[in-house]
Amino acid sequence: MKIRIENPNNSKKKTAMLCGFVLEDSDKVLGLENIDFKIIPSIKQSTNDMGGVFGKILVIPTTGRTASQRILLAGLGKKENFTNDTIRFVSGKIAQKARELKLKEFSIIVPPSSLIEPISSVSQIVEGCKMSLYKFEKYKSKKENNIPDLTILVSKSEKISKAIKIAEIVSDGAIYTKSIANLPPNECIPATLANFARIISKKNNMKCNIISKNELKKKGFGGITAVGQGSKNEPKLIILEYNHGSRNEKPIVLVGKAVTFDTGGISLKPGEKMDEMKFDKCGGCTVIGIMKAVSELKLPINVVGIIPSVENMPGGESYRPGDIIKLYSGKTAEILNTDAEGRIILADALSYGEKQYSPKAIIDFATLTGACIIALGTNIAGIVSNNDKLTQKIMESSKRTTEEIWELPLNGDYMDMVKSDVADMKNVGIGRAAGTITAAAFLRNAIENTPWIHIDIAGVAWTQVATKEKPYNPKGATGFGVRLILDYLQNI
Ligand code: BES
Ligand code: MN
Ligand code: ZN
Repeated sequence: MKIRIENPNNSKKKTAMLCGFVLEDSDKVLGLENIDFKIIPSIKQSTNDMGGVFGKILVIPTTGRTASQRILLAGLGKKENFTNDTIRFVSGKIAQKARELKLKEFSIIVPPSSLIEPISSVSQIVEGCKMSLYKFEKYKSKKENNIPDLTILVSKSEKISKAIKIAEIVSDGAIYTKSIANLPPNECIPATLANFARIISKKNNMKCNIISKNELKKKGFGGITAVGQGSKNEPKLIILEYNHGSRNEKPIVLVGKAVTFDTGGISLKPGEKMDEMKFDKCGGCTVIGIMKAVSELKLPINVVGIIPSVENMPGGESYRPGDIIKLYSGKTAEILNTDAEGRIILADALSYGEKQYSPKAIIDFATLTGACIIALGTNIAGIVSNNDKLTQKIMESSKRTTEEIWELPLNGDYMDMVKSDVADMKNVGIGRAAGTITAAAFLRNAIENTPWIHIDIAGVAWTQVATKEKPYNPKGATGFGVRLILDYLQNI
């Protein structure tokens, strides 16, 4: 999608579709207030009819009476309900309408600064349009996705151009995450993800290190080795380093769970919806998408992405309930359920990240627990942290990006719930009680004192039955976390 900006010349703009926003119960199209309604008598009537209801779209053919072939009215809803997501959401609807009409291009008028800062407007317009036009079509014989170009009508400035550029890179990061997370498990194994990481590292000047099975074993990654041993598709630990900060500045470490398929292993999952466990790699894909965008944004910081990747399969070589393994931290873990595999591979990656890089902060993403869906549903991710300052920062980014999160507690009582009779810890809690927190308690044991935040994206990483429909989250992987963490990294 090519994106251009032009100074507003709204009533004279030659375009296939001139799109303006309308607030609920207003008869004015924002940015088109001065249009001569005698030219198109139906506009005023139509504005009244659609009532500016949130998300409603109305296309009016102008039959040659204005320079634009069509005028599109897009409802923003009530002014008091306006959020940081309204323009993104509604822009997505507009873009999908343009695609439906098979247009080659369309134009959006930026709403007045009295309603929303133009910088924020253009960012949301770009994100909404780009992300809403993504479609996973790789395996369709007939590809249908024609992507129209966009002109944004706004007073030109350096700042606006920069905001657009940033929003394009951020959206491309989220789209990249979706496009690899949507791949089926026969086509995306740990080695495939390692290849994607290698490709983006070459394009964008990052260091990429892939640690394979034998070396993992030798170096003491007992968790990744154990979970990965049941599959002929060997485990990989993928490490991406982006160094654009000063030499002695400590990096931010991002860790993402990438189980390319989670059968549950010997503690086999029931068959229903097991296909969805192709999305158990979403945490890792999020980290890869963030690293791609960070390097394209050329942020002046140091960031490391660590992605433990395995396939969790049952078989003659699989790890079993009852096994006691030694993690990278040196601590031992009793396996009581091979389906609680994510925390095991993450523990290795977290310990490695802390020891190797002494980071400023560690952030991990994982489709870790079904319990998180029970607790918070499919629109809000769960977070658990050992550091209030870091949590506060991530919360602020969440408010700005509307990638929603909710904090769950983690104190000593929860830590006790993962103590084992025969090893330093066990990989499940007590029954199903506080499943998301006991998983986090296991992770907490992998790091010493580094500020850390764990983001459980089990409910939000892909669209599920109860997922709120958003044009920029079409069916499949959502890329949750990419916009959230890029906002955080840009504001360090
Ligand atoms: N990948 C799953 C968690 C999951 C399940 C995410 C469903 C999204 C939808 C994870 O590896 C898992 O199986 N967790 C178990 C843990 C349990 C055995 C303690 C779970 O949540 O049931
Ligand atoms: Mn599992
Ligand atoms: Zn899993």
